[in-house]
Amino acid sequence: MDHPIAIDYRLLVDNLTTAILLVDSNLNIFYLNSACEALFDISLLRASGMPVLNLLHMPNDEFNTEEALKNTLHSGQHYTRREATINVNFKDIHVDYTASQLNSGKPYHPLLLIELNQIDRMLKISKEENLIQQHQVARQLIRGVAHEIKNPLGGIRGATQLLARSLNDPKYSEFTDIIISEVDRLRNLADTMLGSRQLPSYEPVNVHEPLERVRALIVNQTKKKIKITRDYDLSLPDVLADRDQLIQVMLNISVNAVQAMTENKEFFIDHQPELVLRTRIQRLVTINGVLQRSAVRIDIEDNGPGVPEEILESVFYPLVTGRAKGTGLGLSIAQNIMHQHNGMIECQSVPGKTVFSLYLPWESDHVAK
Ligand SMILES: Nc1ncnc2c1ncn2[C@@H]1O[C@H](COP(=O)(O)OP(=O)(O)OP(=O)(O)O)[C@@H](O)[C@H]1O
Ligand SMILES: [Mg+2]
Repeated sequence: MDHPIAIDYRLLVDNLTTAILLVDSNLNIFYLNSACEALFDISLLRASGMPVLNLLHMPNDEFNTEEALKNTLHSGQHYTRREATINVNFKDIHVDYTASQLNSGKPYHPLLLIELNQIDRMLKISKEENLIQQHQVARQLIRGVAHEIKNPLGGIRGATQLLARSLNDPKYSEFTDIIISEVDRLRNLADTMLGSRQLPSYEPVNVHEPLERVRALIVNQTKKKIKITRDYDLSLPDVLADRDQLIQVMLNISVNAVQAMTENKEFFIDHQPELVLRTRIQRLVTINGVLQRSAVRIDIEDNGPGVPEEILESVFYPLVTGRAKGTGLGLSIAQNIMHQHNGMIECQSVPGKTVFSLYLPWESDHVAK
């Protein structure tokens, strides 16, 4: 019996969440589906013709991947490998994969079909959920403290001004000025800790526009001492976002990168500090536990010394700082704004390459939180 719906198998394969690789008899890749592109962060165009061992085999792995694949190719016996470690963009991820022979219809030209499942995706989702919850509790605590600090400051400031006026003696005004300026500093800090109270006002935004604003600010601030490279995908769709808040997020992250580069000059003896602003479409990405078909990704990358190892895990928490003069609020505020936008921030950092990636979904209907 004819089925009423004709199935487009290409579409089907591209909508699977299992990553699929097809490999020829020389172990070179000739096809991968969308899930596989997302897993390895590589496009079909770039991967075509590439030896599959470049993706699947780690130099320090004692397992002979090549032999196992060839064996399947020639004997037809499939094999499964569990918890294999592969490296994508400097990050180790773990996959289970199965290789099986695929009959190409041509004698002597067997193909290999490799199906991969990332096993730490589920782990990552629950870790993210935990992190976000802890983060929200911490933010509430911080806001409470900031509020309590702010309350008496107005009184102290007013009383000091009265005192200065009634003393009316330049000998003492030095001291009253100190009190007033320190009170002002504390009030600014408390305001930052409280964060923006305004709800985001969403409008269609082309992310290159706020990004260019931030670039102009950084150029101005660093007086061209830092090379700034733009690597934009200009075909990106608009996202629904609060433009000013996006600027704040991009600025907080870029300023951190600039500080890491300018405050660690000894790291740049034989090369130049460089900031890379990159935009891409990212397919199949899990944001806050929801698998999104596609998202806009903005990378802010620097070649500085990297986030100090001891704070890497907690870098988005409020008050976590690696700098003597830092307050540790920039990333926490950025994270909060991205969360309100149904987006997220990820950080990957090794000395010489630190990337903060912002993800904003753009296909799903927007639900403001
Ligand atoms: N690109 C980067 N390279 C190296 N370290 C970084 C980078 N971005 C952030 N960090 C580290 O993360 C810490 C936290 O950053 P965050 O912006 O939250 O706070 P801060 O910069 O210390 O203070 P604030 O932004 O509130 O003035 C920084 O102090 C720094 O140690
Ligand atoms: Mg900062």
